[in-house]
Amino acid sequence: MCRSNETCPAGLTLLFDQATLQSKVRQLAHEILSDHDPAQPLVLIGVLKGAWVFLADLARALAPFPLQIDFVQAASYGMQTESTGNVQLLNDIQMDVGGKSVVLVEDIVDTGYTLRHLAEILATRKAGSVKICSLLDKPSRRKVEVQIDYIGFTIPHHFVVGYGMDAHEDFRHLPFIAYLSENTE
Ligand code: IMP
Ligand code: MG
Repeated sequence: MCRSNETCPAGLTLLFDQATLQSKVRQLAHEILSDHDPAQPLVLIGVLKGAWVFLADLARALAPFPLQIDFVQAASYGMQTESTGNVQLLNDIQMDVGGKSVVLVEDIVDTGYTLRHLAEILATRKAGSVKICSLLDKPSRRKVEVQIDYIGFTIPHHFVVGYGMDAHEDFRHLPFIAYLSENTE
C-alpha cells in the first residue's frame, strides 16, 4: 500500500492512491455509458502495455454494458522516455472494427504521437466512431493535437509510474500512481 509518501517505495512520490483511482474509473465509466446507446456494443481497445490495468478496471466498471475488448501495442522510438513521431505497431488490433463504436483506452497522453497514429489507423479501417479515454493527460508536453473525449486527471510534467505504467519495465504492478522523485528519467 502507498497511502502516503512515508509508505511509498524509495525514489517514488505518491500522486494518486488506489481509492482515488477507483473513484475516477467509476466516474469515467459513467461518462462513457451516458454517451453510448446501450443497444450498441462498445469496443474498448487498450493500448499496451501501459493501459492494461486501467482497461481491466474500466471494463469491469462498465458491466453489464455489452462490451468487446481488444488490444494494440505501439512503440515509438527515440529517447527512452519520450515519444517520437515514428510510431510503430508491435501488435495490431485483431478485431474488425468496421462500423463499431470504439473507445481507445490509454494510460497517459504525452506528446500525442501514439494516439494520433492509432486514431488514423482506426479511421482507415472505417470504425463507426472513435473516442479516446485516457486516465492521465500531460497537455504541457503535447506535440500534436489529439482530441481526448474522457480524461481522468490532468497532470504537470512528471514522469509517472504504477497502475500499468513503467520506468524501464519496473513499477507496472503498483496499485497506485507515483512519480519518480529523483531525476532518473
Ligand atoms: P505519447 O508521447 O503521447 O505518444 O505517449 C507515448 C506513451 O509513452 C504513452 O502511451 C505511455 O505509455 C508512455 N508515457 C508517456 N508519459 C509517460 C509517463 O510519465 N510514465 C510512463 N509512461 C509514459
Ligand atoms: Mg500508453
